[in-house]
Amino acid sequence: MLSPFPIYPSLLAFNIVCLGESLASVVKAGAAGLHFDIMDGQFVPNLTFGPMILQELRPLTELPFHAHLMVYTPEALIQPMVEAGATRLYLHPESTPHIHRALTQVRDAGLEAGVAINPGTPMMMLEPLLELVDGILVMSVDPGFGGQAFLPITYQRLAELRDMLARHGVSPSVECDGGVDLTTIAPLARMGMTGAVVGTGLFHNGDPCASLRQLQQAVID
Ligand code: DX5
Ligand code: ZN
Repeated sequence: MLSPFPIYPSLLAFNIVCLGESLASVVKAGAAGLHFDIMDGQFVPNLTFGPMILQELRPLTELPFHAHLMVYTPEALIQPMVEAGATRLYLHPESTPHIHRALTQVRDAGLEAGVAINPGTPMMMLEPLLELVDGILVMSVDPGFGGQAFLPITYQRLAELRDMLARHGVSPSVECDGGVDLTTIAPLARMGMTGAVVGTGLFHNGDPCASLRQLQQAVID
């Protein structure tokens, strides 16, 4: 049997008053891991939460915790994220002048290293980083908020990435983040997306279990 397409629910779409229940529902539905959007109000125009939320939720599941760091000076969060129980950190090359050092520090700290790239940043910026990462997060919206409209340029960017990965003979995971829903998930998977971060698309009808399964099924159909 084919393993289900990996979906990483974004906590940004959860009801903050009952985070634990929402988490339990997506775990039960077959989420591949949890996606935590850490925002500093400067790198992106929104402010969310820090490592404490991961730490509080960590005992509830053994699924991977992916922290998407939309912050300047992401290096300062590496150790706190280790202590909070993160599995993988996604860092933006747009957020630090020393991305090689920062990604190396993530791996040295025992975590998986991921790189996240904004829609306006040329994909070639990833080329020198390919040996340093386990995963690539292709932003399909400008980061900062959930529920934004998907940017169709993402398809072309995935095609570029697919060529680049083939040229280098590497195969990190490739997730898209922002506006992924029932209409976009299958074409994105055909273009090389290996997993998806989904927020609004999971909670829009109040039934995250059903939505998650529909999204997984849409890739197969
Ligand atoms: C955007 C965040 C995303 C966002 C995705 O800045 O990085 O993870 O929560 O949410 P949706 O699926 O609602 O676009
Ligand atoms: Zn994100």
